[in-house]
Amino acid sequence: MNLNQQFEQIRQSPTVAMNDRIVAARAAGKKVIPLQVGDPDFATPAPIVAAARMALEGGLTHYGPSRGLPELRAAAALKLGRDNGLNYDPHSEILVTHGGIHAYYLALQSILNPGDEVLISDPTWATHANMALMLRGVVRRVPAPPENGFIPPLAAWERALTNKTRAIVLNYPSNPTGAYPSRAYLQKLQDFAAAHHLWVISDEVYENLYYEEKPASAGAFPGAKERTLLVNSLSKTYAMTGWRVGFLAAPAGVMANALKAGQNSITCVAPFVQKAAAFALSDPQIQQAAADMRAAYARRRALVLNLARENVSRLATAPRGAFYFFLDFRALNLSSLEICERLLEEAGVGLVPGSAFGAQGEGFVRMTIAASDAEVESGFRAILRWAEQQR
Ligand SMILES: Cc1ncc(COP(=O)(O)O)c(C=O)c1O
Repeated sequence: MNLNQQFEQIRQSPTVAMNDRIVAARAAGKKVIPLQVGDPDFATPAPIVAAARMALEGGLTHYGPSRGLPELRAAAALKLGRDNGLNYDPHSEILVTHGGIHAYYLALQSILNPGDEVLISDPTWATHANMALMLRGVVRRVPAPPENGFIPPLAAWERALTNKTRAIVLNYPSNPTGAYPSRAYLQKLQDFAAAHHLWVISDEVYENLYYEEKPASAGAFPGAKERTLLVNSLSKTYAMTGWRVGFLAAPAGVMANALKAGQNSITCVAPFVQKAAAFALSDPQIQQAAADMRAAYARRRALVLNLARENVSRLATAPRGAFYFFLDFRALNLSSLEICERLLEEAGVGLVPGSAFGAQGEGFVRMTIAASDAEVESGFRAILRWAEQQR
């Protein structure tokens, strides 16, 4: 019996391999400090939970519109204006999705034909490439080397371009590096996309987690909106990963396809979840709660940098955004999977190999700061001790 051969192109992720090992180590009674997850350690703010409870008790337990509740689309449009300087029509240009991952899926599915090429930087979240492969696209990786702050040089995008290129994928701040470029760079990328009639898919799920100047949204440049497909989600900003709610903002033509794809795959996102999401996006106290969480990540980021400084270690470079450190173990000349396996066995810390994010991530290891201060501190101390023993 035939299977879909597209999936043969998607290799088993080293993240999954590492996770299996972490689960096995814990099952065997080993204490593991979990610094591998990309999930906020904070509880979802209580008023958001209360809003969902009220919606449930009020009977929002049936199908809703496939576009999403008008209330949530309006809240998303207001948020995009308030935070990103973008002007979207909630009726025709915003679609509620099952998290950012689904918004990304619908964005790609709406524009890609089989064999179309997509330019995706390396390193980046593995799903960016895997999804394009699942949809019968062709992925061209654009190196974002550490020497360039993990941002692809503009010439690298040009080099990867062919007459089959349809889209570029951006993810700033980046998972796993936290990197994001200047406004001037984004403007040039938009000029590049305009010159070659490319879509720009911008995954901005970490937009609210930044420690330097506020990152610009890829669509917030003159003329950019009509070619930009904006992916966003409540997962990271509001500690709502399990609620599975996000949104796609895109030109009406794209949206017509995305709506059909959503209608025919998930029908709608759970309406009571949408009600809580609308509340989260609009309530001023919740914006403060999100700012407080960002401040906690900033504190942990400083904690790691201080420890690195005290230990005269070059492992950690300050991430500009997101909630990860991309630790540099290149001096060891071991594969990043091997480093993670040994750090799990010998230091009791769970991490993600940089190679999970692309060839440029080889030699690096992703460590989350979306864990308690104590876990971040003890985990990073254990990593520093282990690194010292390798000298
Ligand atoms: C870069 C990036 N985009 C999207 C997602 C998906 O987030 P969501 O929970 O909104 O589906 C993640 C989750 O880790 C991510 O790292």
